[in-house]
Amino acid sequence: MLIPLVDLRAQHRQIADELHQRFARLFEKTAFILGEEVASFEHEFARFSGVKHCVGVANGTDALEMMLRAVGIGSGDEVIVPTNSFVATAGAVVRAGAIPGFVDSDPQTHLIDVQAVAQQINRRTKAIVPVHLYGQIAPMEELKAVADRTGVLLLEDAAHAQGARHHKQGIASIGLAAATSFYPSKNLGAYGDGGAVLTNSDDVATAVRALRNYGSETKHHHPRLGFNSRLDAIQAVVLSAKLKHLAHWNKARRQAALRYDELLSGVDAVTLPVTLAGNEHVWHLYVVCVPRRDAVLRKLNEAGIGAALHYPLPIHLQGAFKHLCHQKGDFPVAEAVSEQILSLPIFPEITVEQQIYVASELKRSLSKVGVYERGERRSKVRGTGLQLRHKSAPP
Ligand SMILES: Cc1ncc(COP(=O)(O)O)c(C=O)c1O
Repeated sequence: MLIPLVDLRAQHRQIADELHQRFARLFEKTAFILGEEVASFEHEFARFSGVKHCVGVANGTDALEMMLRAVGIGSGDEVIVPTNSFVATAGAVVRAGAIPGFVDSDPQTHLIDVQAVAQQINRRTKAIVPVHLYGQIAPMEELKAVADRTGVLLLEDAAHAQGARHHKQGIASIGLAAATSFYPSKNLGAYGDGGAVLTNSDDVATAVRALRNYGSETKHHHPRLGFNSRLDAIQAVVLSAKLKHLAHWNKARRQAALRYDELLSGVDAVTLPVTLAGNEHVWHLYVVCVPRRDAVLRKLNEAGIGAALHYPLPIHLQGAFKHLCHQKGDFPVAEAVSEQILSLPIFPEITVEQQIYVASELKRSLSKVGVYERGERRSKVRGTGLQLRHKSAPP
């Protein structure tokens, strides 16, 4: 059996007819950049997310950078980001002229560690950008309390979290603005690159609208320089067709995650993902922790399972950030987690049979590499004294 990490063909089949018709109309109109299709998708996605504005841009990295610039982040400012994220979270900070202030993760959820954020804040800190990692909202209420107390801005990297909620509050409802990505494999994915900034702030929305279009609010006038970073109409048509299915697809992801929880709950060597209380997770990724991860991953891939890693090298250890002089040991939880994480295939159309195959191959791989033992329900976070506890561990 071949099971991809994400099955984009299965999604395409559900919207193919609608797309053919809408593309035919669009090609007749030849309005390819911004225009009606983009405006109407922006309106639909803002409504879906429960925020006032959605500004469509060329990709998620640009969305992050323009969000930072729109709120006034620039040269010499520090922006706090989790080191356990995709490189773009910190890359956008550098591109905006600022310095990433890395912080460690919570050992249970792998989300940004709120205590560490509070400790990192200094006089240069201007903003915090938590990541709603794997599809669950970061601890926004706690972060908001820290941000308000210290006078820094709270923003969001919501690339993994379209449709995610915490106590009914969605992305960009606690933070001043959120950046998201429509990279094809995201929960709401385009047929190419795409991204957006979501916000309730009229000022932030106006600034991003100008930034994405050469800094122009009025044709031929450029009071400041911007970018060419607009969502195109073809992507807006795809996104609008997919958006009608997103709530249902996210629900199917939740069911698939529950099924993995059940299938793997008795496997001592597997640490299951933990969801924060009050979170409506959208399971962009289903990430377990296992010992001897690289060997297990190899075995799964050999068995035709597209398991993958998000993310195997924390950002502070990436070559691109060498100039910040971090070293191994600076963020021990993120470093330990990066050696144990394993993303299993998850997508709305995944079948019970496919999940049973993944679970049984995972168990088989663990025993083949010699780590499937009964009785051990905790795995140590090396070098920290911390333990990653199995979700269903007995008290
Ligand atoms: C957490 C996170 N932030 C930002 C990005 C950047 O988005 P894009 O690839 O659309 O530039 C990604 C993309 O994968 C991501 O996973």
